[in-house]
Amino acid sequence: MGIFEDRESAVRSYCRTWPTVFDRARGSWLYDVDGRAYLDFFTGASALNYGHNNPGIKQALLSYLADDRVIHSLDMYTVTKSEFLTAFDELVLQPRQLDYRVQFPGPAGTNAVEAALKLARKTTHRTDVLSFSGAFHGMTLGSLAVTGSNFHRNGAGVPLPYAVTVPFGSDLAASDVDLDEIAAVIVETVQGEGGINVAPLEWLAELARQCEAHGSLLIVDDVQMGCGRTGPFFSFEAAGIKPDIVCLSKSISGFGLPLALTLIRSDLDIWKPGEHNGTFRGVNPAFVTGTAALRLYWQDQALEYGTLAKGQRVASALTELARSVPGTPMLPRGRGLAHGLAVEHGELAGKVSAAAFERGLLVETAGPDGEVIKLLPPLTATDAEIEEGLAILAEAVQTVC
Ligand SMILES: Cc1ncc(COP(=O)(O)O)c(C=O)c1O
Repeated sequence: MGIFEDRESAVRSYCRTWPTVFDRARGSWLYDVDGRAYLDFFTGASALNYGHNNPGIKQALLSYLADDRVIHSLDMYTVTKSEFLTAFDELVLQPRQLDYRVQFPGPAGTNAVEAALKLARKTTHRTDVLSFSGAFHGMTLGSLAVTGSNFHRNGAGVPLPYAVTVPFGSDLAASDVDLDEIAAVIVETVQGEGGINVAPLEWLAELARQCEAHGSLLIVDDVQMGCGRTGPFFSFEAAGIKPDIVCLSKSISGFGLPLALTLIRSDLDIWKPGEHNGTFRGVNPAFVTGTAALRLYWQDQALEYGTLAKGQRVASALTELARSVPGTPMLPRGRGLAHGLAVEHGELAGKVSAAAFERGLLVETAGPDGEVIKLLPPLTATDAEIEEGLAILAEAVQTVC
């Protein structure tokens, strides 16, 4: 591991939680350089909802590469991009009666958020964006300004203006924020990095009503909770709302390749050609794998129902686990296959994560103090893999607590 310690920036982080060198990966499993297997309940923070090297998706990519098809195309038209947009339209937008324009804002989640914030300000002629405590929207300055974590904000080195924060889940009508002055409200339906904080569906519906009444745009950041993580394709579907702008990334490429989308209500798409650009807006291999993932998993509702069923199993196992250690307060929470087990403090959660790692399970910690053990298994994990992960987690908790 010397080369990493000698050459890689001190900013590296996940490798400190899981100090081994990973090499191969397949389905729900990662293998390190010594061949040791780890069950992956982290999945690149939900970038690998369909597992590692998913065979159906991989085959599409291998054929594409073998045929010398276009890899990079900025935002030129390619066959591959047309196939991706067609699949997205047919399988995601039309069945949900959503009329969004698709912007490719750059490769990462934070690019999708930056584009959303800029467009909201541009269309409303208002400057301030309202966000929530515990929110995580990315590390570039616009996204960081609406991100809650002080630790990350302190990395900015400059003030982070034009953002207003209120407590997650609080009643906007009762706050002293003047929504008539607010360009947009940006929200995660389940805060991922914030520690699996699940927004009540009725609160989300009320948020949409408030935004509409005051001419503020509602931006749902579905970077982590989209692409089926909570069950349906979009995490906001359960609330019966249609956000003005939606941010997607992570699992939209289906294969761990960088791809992000900003979905824009059609009448708000007032960008001038090239007004928001960037080199990596046409990563064609990501379009290929993204199309394959949509066609493999979103033609019907099998994945959605499977996610909900597995999610219920995880929820009941976590409730049982919390009960099995009565001396240690533990709060299970989640939706779909995004679950958290909040413990008293980050040190304890960190010890559980380390004990799980020793036993061959990757679970990260989240929340303001890292006090939430966070479970994001692949949506394609088998029932047996879910049981195995839950059993390892239970053993880790019982050893540490
Ligand atoms: C909800 C949410 N938004 C935005 C981002 C930023 O995405 P990226 O790290 O790809 O820039 C993340 C990353 O974890 C996220 O969870």
